[in-house]
Amino acid sequence: MKVVLAVGGNALLRPGDRGTAEEQMLRARQTAENIYPLFQKFKVVVTHGNGPQVGAILLQNETAKNVVPPMPLDICGAMSQGEIGYMLEQSFQNVLEEKGVNKDIATVLTRVIVDENDPAFENPTKPIGPFYTEEEAKRLAKEKGWHVIEDSGRGWRRVVPSPMPLEIVEKDVIAELLEKGFGVIAVGGGGIPVIRKGRKLFGVEGVIDKDLASAVLARDIGADRLIILTSVEKVYLNFGKPEQRGIDEMSVQEAKKYMEEGHFKKGSMYPKILASVLYLDNGGKEVLITSPEKVQDALDGKTGTWIYP
Ligand SMILES: Nc1ncnc2c1ncn2[C@@H]1O[C@H](COP(=O)(O)OP(=O)(O)OP(=O)(O)O)[C@@H](O)[C@H]1O
Ligand SMILES: [Mg+2]
Repeated sequence: MKVVLAVGGNALLRPGDRGTAEEQMLRARQTAENIYPLFQKFKVVVTHGNGPQVGAILLQNETAKNVVPPMPLDICGAMSQGEIGYMLEQSFQNVLEEKGVNKDIATVLTRVIVDENDPAFENPTKPIGPFYTEEEAKRLAKEKGWHVIEDSGRGWRRVVPSPMPLEIVEKDVIAELLEKGFGVIAVGGGGIPVIRKGRKLFGVEGVIDKDLASAVLARDIGADRLIILTSVEKVYLNFGKPEQRGIDEMSVQEAKKYMEEGHFKKGSMYPKILASVLYLDNGGKEVLITSPEKVQDALDGKTGTWIYP
């Protein structure tokens, strides 16, 4: 069975963490301890976000810009894939070794094709990188052609487009590695967005949602299951309200109806449900949404939210 396993930000950082290398390695190890049995049972490709890590890289670039030339966002995305891929690889492999599981893991630097006419390019919405004062932000906007916004009372920030992922460039490489029995880490941070011009690919500055890109990967490699691990054990209706109710199981039709009714918050649960729908409407078989701590129980049918075509 081929599984795409999307891990959330909590796989590497927990509330209150500063984000030191030691902390992130420790979190990665805790994640590995929860999910290593999946590597024994299935052909697994792990995908992950990169928000805090690419934010730190952008800040490093910004701070040192008079000493070393700053890199554009696509290259910073590539750096974050390498950094996170290394931390996950190292922790997964060490835990597998301790458990007596013989499995090699490879990280695949992943690019994702987006449409250059995607309306997201006209309307950047995703805040990234450091906070600035209004004056600084407006100067940088003029100087670099950035879009900047005031980010919910916390200061000014650059916003970049978040285009829809269309196709995973490395899908055949990833499928081949899985077939050969390797564990794979891919689509880090949602992948590096690239556009096709004729037969060539060019990196663009933007951020692809990691859940949507994971769904596209699951579709492209014909995965049997998409598992999304996040900070909640289940998806809820009326989340955060007194009448909140956990969903054990739902169909794609129900998922679409609940999306329209506004049960899932934009920017957190909504993209996960949208990703589930995208995968299931394109030949996918089943989706599981739960937390890393509960994934074993969920696979035994005891918890989590399962979504079916
Ligand atoms: N209806 C809902 N049911 C469950 N959780 C919900 C719902 N609506 C919003 N959420 C929120 O969605 C969050 C998970 O999404 P979030 O984007 O924060 O995490 P992630 O994608 O796993 O990690 P990251 O985005 O940091 O990489 C939960 O912690 C919860 O607060
Ligand atoms: Mg998220």
